[in-house]
Order: sequence, then structure tokens, then C-alpha cells
Amino acid sequence: MKKNVFVFSRLAPEHQARLRQHFNVTLLDPAGDIAAQYATALPEAHGLLGVGRPFGRAQLEPARRLEAIASISVGYDNYDLTYLDERDIILTNTPDVLTETTADLGFALLMSAARRVAELDAWVKAGHWQAAVGPALFGCDVHGKTLGILGLGKIGAAIARRGRFGFGMPVIYHGNGRKPELEAELGAGYRSLDELLGEADFVCVVVPLSERTHHLIGRRELALMKPSAILINIARGPVLDEPALIEALRERRIQAAGLDVYEKEPLKDSPLFALPNAVTLPHIGSATHETRRAMAERAIDNLERALLGGTPRDIVNP
Ligand code: DGY
Repeated sequence: MKKNVFVFSRLAPEHQARLRQHFNVTLLDPAGDIAAQYATALPEAHGLLGVGRPFGRAQLEPARRLEAIASISVGYDNYDLTYLDERDIILTNTPDVLTETTADLGFALLMSAARRVAELDAWVKAGHWQAAVGPALFGCDVHGKTLGILGLGKIGAAIARRGRFGFGMPVIYHGNGRKPELEAELGAGYRSLDELLGEADFVCVVVPLSERTHHLIGRRELALMKPSAILINIARGPVLDEPALIEALRERRIQAAGLDVYEKEPLKDSPLFALPNAVTLPHIGSATHETRRAMAERAIDNLERALLGGTPRDIVNP
């Protein structure tokens, strides 16, 4: 008997076909009644595949047959791990395959905020370019500036490499303990959080969201940053206190921010929209054709192993 898999995110036809080789597959229809589809599919599902929904006790209680969830993401802060462990439900994620792509996006945000790329693109298209641009529209250098990484994990290290070897940037970092190998590779220096905030020209937030990192950067921390500093967040929105950030950007207490993630997504009617010194992207860290394909394949691979008797590569709750 084939096991049942409920897919709650968009999945390419070739990946649907692969899943159907081993499982009875139900696909969520985003145009239909979402709650009704969950109510029907969850009690039957042995496996779930997708990204982005909150899954805690309340959502998973009806899923009495559930054995495994394969998240098509590296982050898994939307899952209640304690509850999954109580129920012996395996959770997997998709590390590694999105590291370089997400680091590219982090660096794109950094460049865009520093050289005012998005702002000046809108300015040109609005027909404002009448004469040579003056200092009011100048940006700031990237090369040679100090790059501060909060969270020197795989993505943080990939951003640091871009900065160090591509742009000659001295790298400093703060996080969960020191990383001697990366310090040697990157010539990176460890700093306390406060030291890093005071010293970095660019602060890149790349920590996972947890109770410990919720609002890691708030009013006090923003006040420690240089007025010329630029903050980049490609981690999770709630790592920053968004109202405090908006205030700091509005009052130019920091120069600019490049944001891919927000406290509430999708971002709607935000005061950020009125701030030219905020670059706002729609949570696209891993959103390239190649990387999303690789993530789907890795997640399917994990789910197949979990439900067909193997050991998944990327178990989050071993
Ligand atoms: C990830 O992989 O965690 C991305 O941010 C998508 O949620």
C-alpha cells in the first residue's frame, strides 16, 4: 500500500511525477478552500512536503498518521520541535543547496543599499534624470569597508567570502562560539555583539530565528551602530525589532537597510515603503530556478528516505 503525501506548496510537474512513483499524492490547490483541503488531507497524510506554514500542536493534532515532514527550506522556525518529538515525527530541511544563492542575494542587498541601486532605478524611471547626479544621490563604497556577520554559519561564511576575497573587506563576526577554521580562512575576528555593531560598516544578519535571537537587534543595538552603517537581514524578520528599525532609518540614525524578510510576511502597507533608504525584497533568498529545483529534490529525497525505510540526510530533530 502506498503511503499518502500532502504537498502544501507549489511543486514542479517533474517532482510531482517523482513523488507519485512511491506515494499517493494530494496537492494543495491555492485557489481552493485552503482550510477545507487541510482538514481533509491531514488526517490521512503519512508525509508532508512544502514550505512556509506554521506547524505547531494545533495544526498537526489531526494528522494522526503523520510520520515525516520534509520542509523545502533551510529554516524551520515555523515548526514546534517539542511537539514533533512527542509524536516521533521526523522533520527534515534542505541545507547546503541554497547556501551560495542566498549569499548572492545577501550581497546583492548590500550592494543595492550601499550604491542606492533600487532607489536610483526608480528615480530614473520616474523621469528625474535631467543633469549629472550630485552628492545628494551619491552612495558609499563597499570595497575595503568592514563587514560584520551575525551568525557565521554556512550562509554567513559564504557572504564573508564574497566580501573578503571579492571586495577586500575585513571581516568580523559574532555568533554561537568561535570558528577557528573560518577565522584562519577569512582572517575574520570574533567580536561581542556590541563591539561588532559599533565597528562594522555593514552588519549582515544571518542567524536562525529562535527564542534567543528574537529581536536580537532592537533599539539599543541600533543605537550602537555607526550612523553610516548599513544593516542587511536575510535571516528571519523577527530577529529585528521592525518598528525600531523603521524609526532608526527614518531618523537616519543608520544609513540604510537591505531587507529580504519581515516580522509579518507578505509585507503590506508598511512604513518601510516610504523610506528610500530601505531596500525591500519579497523573501527571495533562495528563489532562483536552479536552487529551488535543487531544494525540491533534496526535500523529496529526504521524504522518500523517511517514509520508505531509509535514513534522511537532513534530519532536524534526530
Ligand atoms: C529558507 O530556506 O529558510 C528560506 O528562507 C525559505 O523560507
